[in-house]
Amino acid sequence: DANRAVEALFKDKHIMITAGPTREEIDPVRYISNHSSGKMGFAIAAVAQQLGAKVTLIAGPVSLPTPPNVIRKDINSAQDMLNAVHETIATQDIFIACAAVADYKVNKISAQKLKKQSQNITLTLSQNPDILSSVAFLEKPPFTVGFAAETQHVESYARAKLEKKKLNMIAANDVSNSTLGFNSDRNALIVLTSSSTQHLAPNNKSLLAMELMKLVHKEYSRS
Ligand code: CTP
Ligand code: CA
Repeated sequence: DANRAVEALFKDKHIMITAGPTREEIDPVRYISNHSSGKMGFAIAAVAQQLGAKVTLIAGPVSLPTPPNVIRKDINSAQDMLNAVHETIATQDIFIACAAVADYKVNKISAQKLKKQSQNITLTLSQNPDILSSVAFLEKPPFTVGFAAETQHVESYARAKLEKKKLNMIAANDVSNSTLGFNSDRNALIVLTSSSTQHLAPNNKSLLAMELMKLVHKEYSRS
């Protein structure tokens, strides 16, 4: 029965998903962050669970309900997300990095609220760890899937990330189109492996998540 086969695709596999933005504190009342509703990552978590996987969702600050039967850990900063991921990464079969991680953190978080100055101010930022790379470069990495949100050269930039980060797969989306991606309920993806390019047409994020997970399964089975 076709339905039953789909249901069992990831039976007893452990899948970890990062989702949402991270928040880098400036002082007790301010932060730096990225646009990200978390909807794509949460949709993937829901679908993976429906397909039989044991799902761990590491979520930045988003206002979304936890999908049924998914283990959720909430974090704020990129460093916290890195720590949460590595707590249980050794037991994961598949890692899907959907989070919009802040590339930089504020060098020195002020313990007190910064007061408005009469001149311009300068914030010094330092690089955050790359969570996805840290997983893909483990001695025994899980099957790794990255995302790439690009505003130009979508496919070539995504392919460069696939290679540089040593990923099994990357899903790229064009965020210059304001009706898709980010806070939208809809998205379209270009899914790349080292030997293939597949286009997933614009769709709501749940159906798109299902299409993506079918591609992940196909590639995972071959790896
Ligand atoms: N990613 C991550 N940790 C970071 C930055 C990115 O895990 N510190 C992951 C994202 O979750 C995504 C992939 O890496 O799956 C690509 O993120 P992206 O921001 O597109 O790539 P960067 O390598 O940060 O390059 P740039 O922002 O310059 O395009
Ligand atoms: Ca980035």
